[in-house]
Amino acid sequence: MTHKVALIPGDGIGKEVVPQGVKVLNTAADKFGFSIDWEEFPFGSDNYLKTGEVLSDESLEAVGKNKAIYLGALGDPRVKPGILEKGILLKLRFAFDEYVNLRPVKLLPSIKSPLAGKGPDDINFDVIRENTEDFYVGLGGRAKTGTSKKELLLIRELHKTKFGLDIETDSEEIAYQIGMMSKEGATRVIDYAFDLCKKKNGKRRVTAVDKANVLSDMYGLWREAAVEVSAKYPGIELEYNYVDAITMYFITKPQWFDVVVSPNLFGDIITDLGACIQGGIGLAVSGNINPKGTSMFEPVHGSAPDIAGKNIANPCATILAGALMLKELGENEAGNAVTMAVEKVLADGKVRTGDLGGSSKCSEMGDAILEKLLE
Ligand code: NAD
Ligand code: IPM
Ligand code: MN
Repeated sequence: MTHKVALIPGDGIGKEVVPQGVKVLNTAADKFGFSIDWEEFPFGSDNYLKTGEVLSDESLEAVGKNKAIYLGALGDPRVKPGILEKGILLKLRFAFDEYVNLRPVKLLPSIKSPLAGKGPDDINFDVIRENTEDFYVGLGGRAKTGTSKKELLLIRELHKTKFGLDIETDSEEIAYQIGMMSKEGATRVIDYAFDLCKKKNGKRRVTAVDKANVLSDMYGLWREAAVEVSAKYPGIELEYNYVDAITMYFITKPQWFDVVVSPNLFGDIITDLGACIQGGIGLAVSGNINPKGTSMFEPVHGSAPDIAGKNIANPCATILAGALMLKELGENEAGNAVTMAVEKVLADGKVRTGDLGGSSKCSEMGDAILEKLLE
């Protein structure tokens, strides 16, 4: 069996952590009797600065010929914020309609959470982030751009001296950005969250995140969808948390949560917090899932320009994202073996990157996980 996978290392530490993932996944494939046919794409800042291409429709089509996408990170200080992030990462999520963003928040046994007194039993839940709507749809614009502050002052001065008039000159440039939510979009992702909750043993609660007390149109619709979906799942409790409050509860009672379902922007924010309580962003995994199509697997973290090029980034999140990809491709045994190998290397404690209190290089961590897989 061969799985065709598109490979997009991207920018910064993406180019360092992805090769660690590739070598570990290839080893797992050898061990479990399948192969991965990687098709590498150069999208990212270097390619953009050299060729002007962000991600063309032809490239998108080529990516889409693969069963899955394995991605590092996008974003570079030399490029205006948004060009690469929206032009590549969001374009891929949207084009393949990867409406579920699965972000597990799981404290591994050998990792210390910054939350005092909380262990692996307390920090073990899934965040399902809606991935195609909300404030991410790109509806926005700028207006009143023609008049600069200098020009406005000049106009005011002229009115004053010529006509003795004091005019309002505070009509400077404005910007707006609109969020949207469709009933279908909310329903399908909430349904995924309930379904996941049903499949999990133990706790049986879905927590829906919103800000329905202020943005009551959009998140009012979200709540209606949640109520309708929950009716199909008797036995699973539905509760709401406002996004501001849930940031507190992630800290004070992480053990409360089972499956958390969130609109896109809030989901982005709370999963960095989730990454933090599970021991760091270098361990947090993200699966952009289209249950019937092409899914994309990546770490939650970005390109980390502050540590890029030094071979010191933690590759665990990327390797664990690769394990999730293997499972989604139907290679459960191999996926579990990769996860176990990561957990064992972390538990041994001898090879750890700086973010986890060690001094190992990114590639040494990858090597150690690969060797553990072969034991
Ligand atoms: P970041 O996640 O890149 O970095 C935040 C902090 O975490 C930094 O101090 C960094 O050194 C550290 N860090 C991140 N990953 C690490 C790892 N694997 N090992 C050790 N330390 C790690 O977030 P940022 O600094 O806000 O963003 C940098 C760039 O990445 C921006 O261009 C941003 O838009 C982009 N970004 C991309 C993605 C993505 O591609 N999915 C996600 C987030 C941010
Ligand atoms: C993430 C990132 C992206 C997001 C950015 C880079 C577009 O922060 O994957 O968490 O906001 O989704
Ligand atoms: Mn983010």
